Amino acid sequence: MIAMAVLEILTVPDPRLKEVCEPVETVDDALRAFMDDMVETMYDADGIGLAAIQVGDLRRVVVMDLSDERDSPRHFVNPVVTPLTEEMLPYSEGCLSIPSVYDEVERPAKVRVDYLDYKGNPVSEEAEGLYAVCIQHEVDHLNGVLFIDYLSRLKRERAVKKVQKLVKARGEAA
Ligand code: NI
Repeated sequence: MIAMAVLEILTVPDPRLKEVCEPVETVDDALRAFMDDMVETMYDADGIGLAAIQVGDLRRVVVMDLSDERDSPRHFVNPVVTPLTEEMLPYSEGCLSIPSVYDEVERPAKVRVDYLDYKGNPVSEEAEGLYAVCIQHEVDHLNGVLFIDYLSRLKRERAVKKVQKLVKARGEAA
């Protein structure tokens, strides 16, 4: 049993969250160990998705678990999403990098997802519902885009201030 590690999650307005991530060249044991740590970090933070950039790593890697049992982690290396419909699905989104903030974002209701899995095998599948919402949110992260970027400037600034206060309060409590 290899010990997994919980990594630190960056929060807004950390400028590293605005970077554009680089494609992964090889899915190897080192990358798998990193993805295991990402999954552990996601579970520890009670999230359903996490992009590598959120732990300060600029590779195009995403992990996700949409199961109620929290026992079905999924891994996406170099994920690409392509909208398959003009129908938009509104969903109240949250983000581990923007804790305590939730707001509605509209995204295409159905997308194709192309990626390499945990073993490095290419996968192409269709996503709908929460899966479609989540994978589009995570791929946005890889391009330096946050869900609050879709909100008004006023709402975005309020969100950042709220997170800064929360992070400061956490620091004082620790
Ligand atoms: Ni997020």
